[in-house]
Amino acid sequence: MIKTNIKDDFPIFKNYPDLVYLDNAATTQKPRGVIEAVSNYYQKFNSNVHRGLYQLAEESTRIYEDSRKTVAAFIGADQEEIIFTRNTTEGLNLVAYSLGLNLKKGDEIILSLAEHHSNLVPWQIIAQKTGAVLKFIDLNEDGELDLNSSSDGQKGGLKGLLSVKTKIVSLAYISNVLGNINPLKEIFKTVKKFNSQIICIVDAAQSVAHLPLNVKSLQADFVAFSGHKMYGPMGIGVLYGKKEILEKMEPFLGGGDMIAAVYLNHSEYKQGAAKFEAGTPNVAGALGLGEAIRYLQAIGMENIEAKEKELTAYLWERLENFPNIKILGTKDLAKRSSLVAFEYKHVHAHDVGAILSSSNVAVRAGHHCAMPLHKNIGVQASTRISLSFYNMHKDIDQFFIGLQKVGKIFAF
Ligand code: ALA
Repeated sequence: MIKTNIKDDFPIFKNYPDLVYLDNAATTQKPRGVIEAVSNYYQKFNSNVHRGLYQLAEESTRIYEDSRKTVAAFIGADQEEIIFTRNTTEGLNLVAYSLGLNLKKGDEIILSLAEHHSNLVPWQIIAQKTGAVLKFIDLNEDGELDLNSSSDGQKGGLKGLLSVKTKIVSLAYISNVLGNINPLKEIFKTVKKFNSQIICIVDAAQSVAHLPLNVKSLQADFVAFSGHKMYGPMGIGVLYGKKEILEKMEPFLGGGDMIAAVYLNHSEYKQGAAKFEAGTPNVAGALGLGEAIRYLQAIGMENIEAKEKELTAYLWERLENFPNIKILGTKDLAKRSSLVAFEYKHVHAHDVGAILSSSNVAVRAGHHCAMPLHKNIGVQASTRISLSFYNMHKDIDQFFIGLQKVGKIFAF
């Protein structure tokens, strides 16, 4: 059970008591412990890591590396498999760039038609540079990934797309528009059975704060996520990479701290995650992320999942029957997470968002960094509600008051 006054843990709600924050897929609010950890770091520990021999520097290094251990334990990885990045986008760019160095013309990368730009644009850049080809898993009318159909050359079912040329499969765990939870365990099992050398990558941006994640049981080779979508600070993210693969991969950025030795014309790199962390890292961010994970663990991921499911069902019941609303994504709530995007027929999503804002309700409106997905499902833009465990029934009630206003203003 989650305590009823959970919002008291989040100072923003003290500052804005009337705020109905339903944009948690864009970024979550921060608990007091995270804010204090970051502030405390700069007041008591600030110094660079892995460099100084004095006590403050040693403390800072310990804090940074302890956070790596916390992240590793949270997702079932080893600490040398945790690369700190800025966010999901940087993690996916890192892996696309480094794996891309070994791709050849005609090699195939499988994505889905539901990816947001972070898991599409980096692969487009790599494909354009290497001559690799992008293939897309199609969606059924509920936005679920098609696992079985044959391929038309560019898109189709997973089984139809897999070929001897497939080198990479990179998919979101939860679509940031459809809210569908993709069956990645089943998908990666199929992929690895077809060819165990195919690299399986997870964009966990929308899942990490909502579902338990175990990289080993998923059979994932890489997993990218952002701290700020899981109650941690902005500017810190994680890329998990399987040790054996990291050892063979070329670095993404070169510079201080990722090297073992430097000569005039070449360098030797450190092993493991360190090879991918050039320059001074975001130590305070890593500490804040560690604190966010401890906060989530204290509540319990099962309790978070249960509360968000209950809130989603409460929202769904009324939204489904609301006039002129078309919900995007699967209707099967067992396959959904706590984000729900919809089209309000004849009203642009930006108008819906602005009218909701006039009722103190914060949602996201537009294409949610997923333009091809919107085009594919024939929707110009949508309005998205994304719930957190700290939301309450009365937040959802206030959302519906705002939604009724939309109907009145547009005279439906
Ligand atoms: N990708 C983030 C979202 O869906 C920013 O809102």
